[in-house]
Amino acid sequence: MTIFAIDFARLYQDHMAAAGKPKTREEWDERAAKMKQGQDEGTYTTALMERLDFSDCESLLDVGCGAGAVALAAAPHLDRVYGLDFSPGMLALLAENARSKGYSNIYPITRAWEDDWSDVPVCDIVVASRSSAVTDMADALAKLNNKACRRVYLTSLVGGYFIDPGILAAAKRQRMPLPDYLYIVNILYRMGIHPRLDYIESGNRLAGKKDFTQFSRKVADILGELSPQEKERLKAWYEADPARALSGGDPFRWAVVSWEKSI
Ligand SMILES: C[S@@+](CC[C@H](N)C(=O)[O-])C[C@H]1O[C@@H](n2cnc3c(N)ncnc32)[C@H](O)[C@@H]1O
Repeated sequence: MTIFAIDFARLYQDHMAAAGKPKTREEWDERAAKMKQGQDEGTYTTALMERLDFSDCESLLDVGCGAGAVALAAAPHLDRVYGLDFSPGMLALLAENARSKGYSNIYPITRAWEDDWSDVPVCDIVVASRSSAVTDMADALAKLNNKACRRVYLTSLVGGYFIDPGILAAAKRQRMPLPDYLYIVNILYRMGIHPRLDYIESGNRLAGKKDFTQFSRKVADILGELSPQEKERLKAWYEADPARALSGGDPFRWAVVSWEKSI
């Protein structure tokens, strides 16, 4: 068998289906309702912005923009920033955040990855930051590429676990990771695109919890309700190494996949 026998677009779809359904618009709206206006996870956004090249660029399309981590950081560098998202709740937060920072060059687009994008503006830069849990990655990558004049940036969680796999193993919880950047690089290769790869490390969602009650509540947020046995095993993991417990386990590692459009 050679690599040419592998249909990476299909392999991605099968893996995504096995990992479960991506979150719905309603679930993202619920998440938005719990988020505070102005909330920002500094280190990831700062590290991503350091990797964005704005030279000769006037516009940016932020796909799956959420509350606007990228759109808000990019707005001072550009004439126009479009925030595309399917969650009205997230777009409302983006608008509030833009207003409170005094930016009038951020334009919302209510749209899903899966919708028709024919009227979505072509921009110099297209970014999909932590927002590409789609069912059809080949279609998503073609959309990003088609809407970019100069550069595309996409981030994907290395390993596809939103929680340290060591914690899953300790709790004896089985969970299939999401498909990650390895599929993306291979699908792009088939499209004739040879991307650059870089990585960003940032704190995970369990870092800094002040005690086991807070910690286990957050684990339940991520994994769903924990049985008393799972809680007990989790407590053993938590108490075995206080420094590890405080860091919440392994940090997140994001692959930054980027490419230039030839113009
Ligand atoms: C984890 S947030 C990332 C937000 C922002 N890009 C960031 O890096 O902070 C994922 C965002 O993608 C959006 N999203 C998820 N699935 C989507 C879809 N099928 N179409 C459009 N947006 C989607 C969600 O509403 C959410 O705002």
